[in-house]
Amino acid sequence: MAEATGNQESKDYGIGIPAVNTVYKLKGSNNYDWGMKDRLSRVFSPKSGKTVMLAFDHGYIMGPTSGLERIDITILPLLEYADCLMCTRGVLRACVPPTYNKAISLRCSAGSTVLTELNDECVGVEIEDAIRLNASMMAVMVAIGSKFEALTVRNLCKMIETGNRYGIPTLGVTAVGKELTRDARYLGLATRVLAENGAQVIKTYYCEENFEQVTAGCPVPIVIAGGKKLPELDALKMAYMAVDQGALGVDMGRNIFQAEHPVAMIQAVKAVVHEGVNPEKAFKLYNELKAEKKTKK
Ligand code: 5RP
Repeated sequence: MAEATGNQESKDYGIGIPAVNTVYKLKGSNNYDWGMKDRLSRVFSPKSGKTVMLAFDHGYIMGPTSGLERIDITILPLLEYADCLMCTRGVLRACVPPTYNKAISLRCSAGSTVLTELNDECVGVEIEDAIRLNASMMAVMVAIGSKFEALTVRNLCKMIETGNRYGIPTLGVTAVGKELTRDARYLGLATRVLAENGAQVIKTYYCEENFEQVTAGCPVPIVIAGGKKLPELDALKMAYMAVDQGALGVDMGRNIFQAEHPVAMIQAVKAVVHEGVNPEKAFKLYNELKAEKKTKK
């Protein structure tokens, strides 16, 4: 306890120097409370303003899909390169040691799998468990334009309500589904609806035409999912274009963990997102890291 007597006299009040009042620069986020900003700063690097989220929550709808059969073998070596881990609470507790100290984007909606009808979801994780797991963000899927639209918007709103109460941001995830077109008109509408309902971050897909209209029309940060596995150079081009057109990062899964060399691929994606390295240079880096790995074996 501080002593009551014998202390140095206070003298340095910086009279005449205005108090520092820092603006929180992340898109649309300046008016949030401290805890929410602190969590968002764990997801989005304060230095680059961007994020590389590693998505490996696919098992909740697909089971042990290619590359995710053994999280301990294939995913753990990637974690040090990611800013944020997007996963389910089941895999987080069972397979991810808490010593990595990475931001967690916890998959909180659940309900149906590829065997039945996708997108018929509810809120599957309550806020208490998200807090216990020290989640930096809670992810909820929303199927705008499908018959599950109202249901999934309600799920999103419920999560946002509870998240706001405790200072945890909600990641609104635009749905996957055969019937949902991934063009700028649809993605622009879906991302805007999620943001209007209060989602602090939106995950959606990249589209080749007019993606900059999607990011411009969305008042909060957008991160892109990678989608199905592409050749590595194409995936790097997609990440580059998305960031160049206003996305603040990626939430990428299959294009990393299904790459020929996932550890090299996540480092190449990181160079694109955080350093603005062009896709050809990043692909060169990928090949160099891949070759290094081979010679080390
Ligand atoms: C599954 C998801 C995935 O996290 C998302 O699709 C990202 O992974 P990928 O880059 O493989 O598309 O939300 O519902």
